[in-house]
Amino acid sequence: MSVKNDKRLAAEAAVAEVQDGMVVGLGTGSTAAFAVAALGLRVAGGLRVQAVATSEATAEAARAAGIAVLDFADCAAVDLAIDGADEIDARLWAIKGAGGAMLREKAVAAAARRFVVTADGSKRVDAIGGAKVPVEVLPFARSFVVAQLEALGAAVTVRSGYRTDNDNLVADCRFRDMSDPRGLAASIAAIPGALGHGLFLDEVDVAYVASGGKVLKLER
Ligand code: 5RP
Repeated sequence: MSVKNDKRLAAEAAVAEVQDGMVVGLGTGSTAAFAVAALGLRVAGGLRVQAVATSEATAEAARAAGIAVLDFADCAAVDLAIDGADEIDARLWAIKGAGGAMLREKAVAAAARRFVVTADGSKRVDAIGGAKVPVEVLPFARSFVVAQLEALGAAVTVRSGYRTDNDNLVADCRFRDMSDPRGLAASIAAIPGALGHGLFLDEVDVAYVASGGKVLKLER
């Protein structure tokens, strides 16, 4: 059983929750891509949904799969959002954003009545903190924000030659102390010029995690 197969199975379990008439949030990354493909198949079979996408790449893939894509700017609420994660723990706390889409992903997750994370088993951890925490940074404030993140105990690497879909930078942070993710999230959010971060502590309602071809459902 491959990791790819586990990603597909987790994504398909999440897509099985989609019902006719829903507005569906579509995440970013390789697991989310399996959800787009699975949803496309259901749409081809007659399911009527509209989607909002958390990245330009996902919007393109969704359209190619025959899914109607709305502009999230025109959309105040989403019925169900499906996305991947870099880490997910038993509290359903997650780190996201290796793909750089965490700001849009968090907005869509927050707008969603139900936010579903899909992942292969390698993403499941006892407590989040092993993965880098990406921070979307206003280019104008780059040096200031990096210094503030360092002051919070992070070793910071700004992704070279990379811009988000919002034309911002991403600072990948390895924090010395990850024992208080909630405090850390609040401290990062308080930095002017730090536009968003990959700590998802309150958003996730359910996670489908697949290992060795078996899907486990984790709920709060
Ligand atoms: C993108 C994300 C992805 O959902 C996360 O990085 C997981 O990616 P993958 O499914 O490819 O392992 O947060 O910003």
